[in-house]
Amino acid sequence: MLLRVLGSAAGGGSPQWNCGCPVCAAVRSRGLARTQSSVAVSADGRRWFLINASPDVRAQIEAFPALHPRDDRTTPLEAVLLTDAELDHTLGLLLLREARALRLYATPAVRETLCVGSGILRTLERYCPVEWRAVTPGAGLALALALADGLSCRAFDVPTGKRDRFGTGQDHGRVVGYRLTDERTGRTLVYLPGVQSLAPAVRGEIEGCACLLIDGTCWSDDELVRLGLADRTSREMGHLPVDGPDGSLAQLPSLGVRRTVFVHMNNTNPILLEDTPERRIVEKSGMEVATDGLEVQV
Ligand code: MLT
Ligand code: MN
Ligand code: ZN
Repeated sequence: MLLRVLGSAAGGGSPQWNCGCPVCAAVRSRGLARTQSSVAVSADGRRWFLINASPDVRAQIEAFPALHPRDDRTTPLEAVLLTDAELDHTLGLLLLREARALRLYATPAVRETLCVGSGILRTLERYCPVEWRAVTPGAGLALALALADGLSCRAFDVPTGKRDRFGTGQDHGRVVGYRLTDERTGRTLVYLPGVQSLAPAVRGEIEGCACLLIDGTCWSDDELVRLGLADRTSREMGHLPVDGPDGSLAQLPSLGVRRTVFVHMNNTNPILLEDTPERRIVEKSGMEVATDGLEVQV
């Protein structure tokens, strides 16, 4: 199974258009820019699945030849899976409206938000047929069109206290992670760009996987508060901080994951820069900070 990180930053990208924080300033002067949160996965290198469609999806597809159309309008893009209904994960659906049809895997809660909350799905359906495939957290999801593809996956519910911005009320399945399995090798990859706490059920999905791509939104819980950019902590926004006594750095080593990569970094996060003490701490712990274009063979 091959995974390509199309976008490794959180909503707003890095640097964010209206942000002059120290990290955005450093990225503008000497750092590596990153687009918004999305990955592409494939079992055979021919048929690809997007997990989340970011506002940067057009540039992300153009930057990855494996996602280019073969002839006329035949695209290797089989479907889009969604982890949640956040704009950084779904605005890109509107940029795929030229599709002949779009197959969309999402939980009922996410679909509900896209229909009566942000309305993105209602708008998209005015442009192209959308084939919704319901994702039931905990149930298997045979993504494979034929066994040859050998790619299956399971969504799992990620309990969250993040603001239900559109008040659709559904909590179960509002945020999910995906555990992908290459049926031929049995190796698994977990994609979890948004997680607030490593609750036992979430730990159970992560344990023993070959590669984990996990929420690296903020280095510290009070990062945005300290910068005067928000009045809510990372956890209150639904994101487990990397650092801290019960941050992901402290908790992950006990889960037996072979390779851990942080994704969905907020523009304020110092691990975005190669020469910061925070990045050195992450790397000394044997974990990685994703960049756009990172490819993982599992
Ligand atoms: C989040 O990750 O909490 C949301 O994507 C925030 C945003 O994009 O506004
Ligand atoms: Mn986000
Ligand atoms: Zn910034």
